[in-house]
Amino acid sequence: MQSRTQSPFVNYTRNPDRLISHKGREVAVFDDANLENMDQATVSSFGEEWKRFHAFDQEELKRCGDQYFDLLGENEPGSDAVVLDAGCGSGRWSWYLAPRVATIEAIDPSDAVYPALELLQDVSNVRVTRCSIDAMPFADASFDFIMSIGVLHHVPDTEAALKVLKKKLKPNGSFLVYLYYDISHRGFLFRLLFSCVNVSRRIISSFPSTIKQIICEGIALLVYLPLARLSRLISLLGLPGIARRIPLSYYAEKGFFIMRNDALDRFGTPLEKRFTRSEIIRMLNNAGFSRIRFSEGEPYWHVLASA
Ligand SMILES: C[S@@+](CC[C@H](N)C(=O)[O-])C[C@H]1O[C@@H](n2cnc3c(N)ncnc32)[C@H](O)[C@@H]1O
Repeated sequence: MQSRTQSPFVNYTRNPDRLISHKGREVAVFDDANLENMDQATVSSFGEEWKRFHAFDQEELKRCGDQYFDLLGENEPGSDAVVLDAGCGSGRWSWYLAPRVATIEAIDPSDAVYPALELLQDVSNVRVTRCSIDAMPFADASFDFIMSIGVLHHVPDTEAALKVLKKKLKPNGSFLVYLYYDISHRGFLFRLLFSCVNVSRRIISSFPSTIKQIICEGIALLVYLPLARLSRLISLLGLPGIARRIPLSYYAEKGFFIMRNDALDRFGTPLEKRFTRSEIIRMLNNAGFSRIRFSEGEPYWHVLASA
């Protein structure tokens, strides 16, 4: 008798509402659940963004990944770890982590699942599923490691989403989250600049997609690129302290593609929130996490916690 091959992935707890296929791969879609904790305009905007920005330079992705995952030891999460990438976008961090773990469930409710399938086409241990964090078809305590990178500041209720994710972790599982940092501790000029950015974001994100994209390309070219290169130049002149004070110095060593992607992310997204360290600690504690560790490296804040 022929034995059926067992799927290495986590069993879905219910049947998908529908299946979509792209480039020969099928994706299960779960969109029946109560989607209160999802902002549809933001999700649609991200779908557009990732369809445009997914042709990453692999070396640059690895360098960026090393920054986000700096809190993990070399052998973590571990070759037998079952992982959830909650809000995977283009799938870049699943791509980065896949060689170090057993399997990854990469979920996202947007059209980002299409570019994710393309980026991950040769990566057999990642499965892409289209759903929101609210609608995930996975049993509680399914995962050894969960990552949610740059997602939970774009949902209406961040703490509620953290509670959902905590339930999906096995006891002692680990959780890596990246949340935009609050700027209230920064100097007056920085806060003024940020207020202008925030007002601009609210206006730009309400424009039709093509206009929004053209404006964001302009911002990347006329603001991000000059400031990033100025920061790099000052650093090369032997003044790294001053270089770090230049706005957007984070991009000093990054390519223009990343700047274009991030400009669209920063100025094109309708819902964006920011958190202080203590707000993040409070939300993680309320969700039941412990052993909370902040990275002192950029991007701020990325945080590792235990279930
Ligand atoms: C800034 S992108 C980050 C994507 C990816 N983690 C990365 O860093 O490349 C935010 C992603 O969160 C997704 N997202 C927004 N609301 C969500 C929700 N309720 N559940 C799951 N993902 C969500 C968006 O569709 C988008 O792809």
